[in-house]
Amino acid sequence: MSTVDAGRDASRDAWRSVWSSLAPIGRDPASGGYLRLSWSPADLAARKWFVTEARARGLAVETDRNGNLWAWWGDPAAGDAVVTGSHLDSVPHGGGFDGALGVASALLAVDALRARNASPRRPIGIVVFTEEEGSRFGVACLGSRLLAGAVDPARARALTDASGTTLAQALAEAGLDPAGIGPEPDRLARIGAFVELHIEQGRQLSRPVGVASGIWPHGRWRLHVAGEGNHAGTTLMADRRDPMLTAAFAVLAVNKEARLLGAHATVGRLVVHPNATNAVPETVTAWVDARAAEQSTLDLLVANVRRRVAERAERDGTTVELVAESVSPAVDFDAALRDRLVAALGPDTPVLGTAAGHDAGVLATAGVPAAMLFVRNPTGVSHSPAEHATDDDCVAGVAALARVLEELAC
Ligand code: GLV
Ligand code: MN
Ligand code: MN
Repeated sequence: MSTVDAGRDASRDAWRSVWSSLAPIGRDPASGGYLRLSWSPADLAARKWFVTEARARGLAVETDRNGNLWAWWGDPAAGDAVVTGSHLDSVPHGGGFDGALGVASALLAVDALRARNASPRRPIGIVVFTEEEGSRFGVACLGSRLLAGAVDPARARALTDASGTTLAQALAEAGLDPAGIGPEPDRLARIGAFVELHIEQGRQLSRPVGVASGIWPHGRWRLHVAGEGNHAGTTLMADRRDPMLTAAFAVLAVNKEARLLGAHATVGRLVVHPNATNAVPETVTAWVDARAAEQSTLDLLVANVRRRVAERAERDGTTVELVAESVSPAVDFDAALRDRLVAALGPDTPVLGTAAGHDAGVLATAGVPAAMLFVRNPTGVSHSPAEHATDDDCVAGVAALARVLEELAC
């Protein structure tokens, strides 16, 4: 076996060993997807996995006031740190790579640098942000937003999950002080560069690894429709005030407006009360996820949906409320950092934008020089168990991240 082949096999073995220790955590055998909602037992197990892996590498691990985990090679107090990492929480029944790939790759990139006897002149950090998906408490990138001061801590404390548990309660249960959450400007100021590696969430990559250019503006809105709960058999059709009709119209209007404007918009979640087969519902809540290349297009989409749904509600005798839950502006990643990554990885490295949200976007908006690496996803599917990356591409991702950390920190 040649030295090159032996090196490739060792990298693949190292990848498989780390990945196979994380992959079973929170995986639902029935769907094959992940149920790692933040602060759930599965999320706690994944966090514990990270702490164990980081400590095994001699990294100093700390939990910040917002529950984000940090593992340090070098002293973060020195400042100008090079930080990588991503998140371990998932959407319900999501894929295994979204977030987790960036965390596992970060640990392996540290191993790769050490194998080369690298001695970083800047501290290197690995971060695991909490509640990136907003799947439990509704606000996407909650951990990084709190850190950056992009969400009001009082509002965050009062956010509730599907069973009515507040974020404050979940944090307290996990041993954190809910009163302490909020911006950490000093911690943020210590980050000289943040590079998040993430699985690509479309089919844009023909090579194993690419570099991100930016993120579309996007957000989530909660549409609450109230009508009159009543008997499904005895209520005359003309007498009904059925919120399901308004919600159904809203779902179609969201899709139509997105198509007309060249945007992306989705209703992926509905809560119906009382959710009974033989009752006209009393309320329907629908969540609208909308994204567009331009802020003006996104604004127009939301305004058009708001107007059309209000008109429909008038006809249905229902009332509607459309409230923003989390909104993110367009992100153009730091051009100098992006160019440095491309130069380090080779001039043919693809540069691509994304309509997916990331903690790197939140940090970039907060003024941190940020960049992203994307690893090819042959299915092009994400937020679903069909999300995939090959072992070879994951190994290429680790090598690219190690090269980037070396370029920036050593
Ligand atoms: C994050 O995964 C998003 O919703 O874009
Ligand atoms: Mn995601
Ligand atoms: Mn993600």
